[in-house]
Amino acid sequence: MTTQPDVRPLRVDDLLQNPSTGIIVCCGSGGVGKTTTAAALGVRAAEMGRNVVVLTIDPARRLAQSLGLSELDNTPRPVLGIDTAAGGSLEAMMLDMKRTFDEVVLNHSTPEKAEQILANPFYQALSSSFAGTQEYMAMEKLSQLSAQAAEEGTWDLIVVDTPPSRSALDFLDAPKRLGSFLDGRFIRLLMAPARAGGRAYLKVLTGGITMATAVMSKLLGGQMLQDVQTFVAALDTMFGGFRQRAEQTYALLKDSRTAFVVVAAPERDALREASYFVDRLDQEHMPLAGVIVNRVQRLAARGLTAARADAAAEALGEASQAGTGSATAALTEGLLRVHADLAETAERHHGHTARFTAGHPGIPLTEVPAAAQDIHDLDGLREIGRALATPGS
Ligand SMILES: Nc1ncnc2c1ncn2[C@@H]1O[C@H](COP(=O)(O)OP(=O)(O)O)[C@@H](O)[C@H]1O
Ligand SMILES: [Mg+2]
Repeated sequence: MTTQPDVRPLRVDDLLQNPSTGIIVCCGSGGVGKTTTAAALGVRAAEMGRNVVVLTIDPARRLAQSLGLSELDNTPRPVLGIDTAAGGSLEAMMLDMKRTFDEVVLNHSTPEKAEQILANPFYQALSSSFAGTQEYMAMEKLSQLSAQAAEEGTWDLIVVDTPPSRSALDFLDAPKRLGSFLDGRFIRLLMAPARAGGRAYLKVLTGGITMATAVMSKLLGGQMLQDVQTFVAALDTMFGGFRQRAEQTYALLKDSRTAFVVVAAPERDALREASYFVDRLDQEHMPLAGVIVNRVQRLAARGLTAARADAAAEALGEASQAGTGSATAALTEGLLRVHADLAETAERHHGHTARFTAGHPGIPLTEVPAAAQDIHDLDGLREIGRALATPGS
């Protein structure tokens, strides 16, 4: 294994303790450990004395339970079992995308208008299945929490999980995309006289927005035109508010009090995605704190490489086939093969991570070992937090 002079450790505790860190956004491709990381950072920061709120998105059920998130009510709830000796606290919430969208509508229109919009089938489909809605609503919720933190002084750190987007772009583009979806030109098209016909609507919808086919066909029933027009007419009054919020959210993400961490798995595809994300954040001038490579296989017995373990197992295997091996030799052969497998994974993980750091010199990075089990309780999260804060542990 080569040494890597370029690698800068990501100093997680410095980040968490720094009072000017106000928001941490955990992003990365699906399944790499974003939700786990967000929760672990939240627990660690809280136990270091910060007043933290964690916004999670679709946490696994057992993790949700251990965070006290049994009901999806779209507001932060205190997490029990946190060590508050340092003066910190932890609240957590699960994002309810539809309800967040409803709140936006309620906050930006008169009660009658809001009622009209909320009851509209077009709105209902849009708010639960418009591609990008979850990304946008996560960001919307973030700005709500941020405003609440500023007004009430409830939290001094917000940790945000991000949706399992197919592409990293979806997430970064969400505020802008919703802004442009709601821009005047689109609305005028929708408001055009009916003679433009259903086709024009379809073109607009499929051109700008990707919508689930099932939803499309549901929408294209006879009611659709009218629904869309009523919806848009009602939405019209909320425009300024929507656009402005999208812009504010974007500004909040770019703020120097915000820190992005890109979570990745130590595999080629996941690190390629991470690369892309790192570059994209850079292009957008978003504040990147560093990269977390999660679920890294470490070598149990240092020095015994996969190749050597395999060769030794092979030799023992040949001896037993020749009838000269003992039961102990057979057991040793088995253990060597297990070790060879783990060592091979460890070598592969190290190789991919090393290539990533070579391609992105100077980007702070930390690794978290693969735990033997899923992470679903506070102790598990504390363990992840410790590993995050201790590079090379
Ligand atoms: N370091 C780790 N060791 C073992 N299991 C992990 C680790 N990090 C995450 N996991 C598990 O991997 C699964 C996916 O993690 P999750 O945080 O939900 O990913 P994401 O939010 O990126 O989709 C979960 O079951 C979680 O418990
Ligand atoms: Mg998740």
